[in-house]
Amino acid sequence: MSDANAPVIRSTNLLAPPVGMDIAFSDPQGISDLIDKGSAYKTLSAVHKNTGETSGGWFRNFWALGEKGVFDGAEPFFYNQNFINAAKQSFQAEVIRPVAMMTNLNLPAPGAPFHLDLPFFRGAQNREVPSWMLAPMGYSGLFHNWAIPVASAITWFYDGVGGEFEYWPNGLNRPSLTESPPYSNRCVLADNEYMYHRVGAIGDPAEQNNYDDIGYDATLCLSGDRKWNVVEDGKTTAMFDYGQVRVSVLWKAYCFKNEVEAGSFDDHSHDLNPQMVADIFCADMKSRGIPFTTPGDFTTDKIWKDKILSVYRAPDGGASY
Ligand SMILES: [Fe+2]
Repeated sequence: MSDANAPVIRSTNLLAPPVGMDIAFSDPQGISDLIDKGSAYKTLSAVHKNTGETSGGWFRNFWALGEKGVFDGAEPFFYNQNFINAAKQSFQAEVIRPVAMMTNLNLPAPGAPFHLDLPFFRGAQNREVPSWMLAPMGYSGLFHNWAIPVASAITWFYDGVGGEFEYWPNGLNRPSLTESPPYSNRCVLADNEYMYHRVGAIGDPAEQNNYDDIGYDATLCLSGDRKWNVVEDGKTTAMFDYGQVRVSVLWKAYCFKNEVEAGSFDDHSHDLNPQMVADIFCADMKSRGIPFTTPGDFTTDKIWKDKILSVYRAPDGGASY
């Protein structure tokens, strides 16, 4: 018998195997049109309100958030039946609820470290805890019983050099798989909160840059001659051919095994709260003999933040987005 109050146990390793799709969207031209319409793009830091931080050459906009479309015209793509079917298959789930959709536009850059995506936990998925806390919660493995299974479908539109997607479906100590360009409308749906993955170097080495000088308020604008322009303080500081920018569209959906599991998510009968999160971290550090001070306000206690970020991190310290 299913019990709505029972902890939800995911496999500690990969729960859901990746599913590749050669044709992600039946209307790829519609996607291209929306990508053009999304200009001017904000930096990743600005979109996520990480005030004052640079995000290098990474720009984004949201098409859907909190289970709702937020960008005019994106709704049909948000409910893409190809993704819903693949998520059911991969996650062995009956109830698929699209939760977010976003674009990523990346300038030519060196490869990024492998990482897990920011996880979703029951009771911590709507900013109940500060966003900096989500990555360490995921890397710690301590909140596994509250993890919401999430399918991530990444579709690429990039025919340039590099930019491969490398992923480790059987863990970091087993061989990786790689999706390489040219890819247009090609997609992999996977368990990116549990499966390590990374993006390889984008563009020729001579084109690559870390863009540490691109500020929080910079924008990426498409000009009439179809060039991507980095604009800061009203001035164009860098320009790229259309095809030099690696475009990907990321879709995420909650995957509930059945209506009972979805119901226990909806009625909040198995939710974390911020105090539980702190208590679980503290109990773990105490049991491991790691010194720490009792946390104050999570949003202002810098000592607590630095401690948690240093103790619970990806094996090579990769960032999560
Ligand atoms: Fe990722």
